[in-house]
Amino acid sequence: MYLGLDLGTSGLRAVLMEESGAVKAVAEQSYAVAHPHAGWSEQAPADWLSACAAAVADLRAQASDSWAKLRGIGLSGQMHGAVLLDADGEVLRPCILWNDTRSATEAATLDDDPDFRAISGNIVFPGFTAPKLMWVAKHEPVISSKVAKVLLPKDYLRYWLTDALAMDMSDAAGTSWLDVGARAWSPTLLAKSGMRPDQMPTLVEGSEKAGGLNAARLHEWGLTGPVVVAGGGGDNAAAACGTGCVSEGQGFVSLGTSGVLLAARGAYAPAPETAVHTFCHALPNRWYQMGVILSATDALNWLSRTCGQSPEALSSLTGDTLTAPSNTIFLPYLSGERTPHNDATIRGAFIGLDVSTDQAELTRALMQGVAFALRDSLEALQNTGAQLERLLAIGGGAQSDYWLKVLATVLNLPLDLPKAGELGAALGAARLGLLADTGADPESIITPPEIAQTIMPDSTLTAAYEAAYQRYRALYPALKPFSGAPS
Ligand code: XUL
Repeated sequence: MYLGLDLGTSGLRAVLMEESGAVKAVAEQSYAVAHPHAGWSEQAPADWLSACAAAVADLRAQASDSWAKLRGIGLSGQMHGAVLLDADGEVLRPCILWNDTRSATEAATLDDDPDFRAISGNIVFPGFTAPKLMWVAKHEPVISSKVAKVLLPKDYLRYWLTDALAMDMSDAAGTSWLDVGARAWSPTLLAKSGMRPDQMPTLVEGSEKAGGLNAARLHEWGLTGPVVVAGGGGDNAAAACGTGCVSEGQGFVSLGTSGVLLAARGAYAPAPETAVHTFCHALPNRWYQMGVILSATDALNWLSRTCGQSPEALSSLTGDTLTAPSNTIFLPYLSGERTPHNDATIRGAFIGLDVSTDQAELTRALMQGVAFALRDSLEALQNTGAQLERLLAIGGGAQSDYWLKVLATVLNLPLDLPKAGELGAALGAARLGLLADTGADPESIITPPEIAQTIMPDSTLTAAYEAAYQRYRALYPALKPFSGAPS
């Protein structure tokens, strides 16, 4: 048995997988994101541990006959978040998450230094880890002086599970401290952002062993061990492992809290000027590229809170039949944007509201706007040479047929829906746990899922959506003068 743990932004998902790759049981626990100021996003790392303990208790209850056979664990998690530990391993402040834009000034300062793009292969986005540490140094100097180790969210979970202070390459690639081509910490980038090498955890590959389950967890979880814990991966790399996206031509589009359009690449070929992310894969000697938008289902969740309706209720208002493009254009920049604009201060908008615009129309416009933003990412990826002829569709938003139809039509690509529901990142993590335990050939384990259904672009509407997309593109520059904090 193998356990995959995916520490997401809205909750933790645990998947128990048999050695054959079949899923035995799934459990989920949710937790909140705090937004104490505009542009801030934080979580208490202790909430992740409680969620993990509760999810494991649920899995044990569901699979009591097989739990004792647990041999390996793989971890996946939201990327970039800064968990700061003191010399005793205590958490110094709430984790600053990937969609937190408070460190935009620090990010711009680092990004102005050509070494960062040259060595890390990426723009220094405000959501990445290095600028967060510079913000803490400037605004919370007492905390900064006590930082003994910086971990990413899933690596804090690993610390609780194993006592090991380790990070895998795919997640480390999103810190702005990694030489992404060489797969090693960059002493230059660390020094230039005021960090010391001893504040970094040990680097491992995602499919490599990073430690073993510690005595406390073995005891609490009724296990005798040993249980191997793999390096694992950032959630997008882990989802690529769960969906078999490891070679050129393979990719997925994810409608999660963030929106991601990912392409596996054959070699390391960074293109930071496109605002595409180029990161290490969770398997040795492999890389991938992706465009990232900061609000996908996060935008639907926002509208649902605003309308006092659940996201499911709002989604049901659209119906399943794709209609002509909405005249209301939504720009989903609720937390700023990464690909292609790299703009932490831009904010969202509905344009073209009419007295007849109702909740159904707002929802259709919102889904359409997210699809347009992902089309921007597709264009950026195509500019780097990625060739994608179809995509897997994953993430919570892929439960909406209407959203998938708009997305397929706006991207003008067929979207394949995996059969066994949406287990991408957690399943990918479990597969990495298996690889670390058995040393099996990754190609035999990291395979594509069975496809339940393919959503084709609606050829009667592609031209109309293309025209609407061009209107959408013209709105970012028009909105720009209205962005920024109110004075
Ligand atoms: C990727 C990113 C998001 C998070 C979401 O760069 O910031 O996709 O990983 O969990």
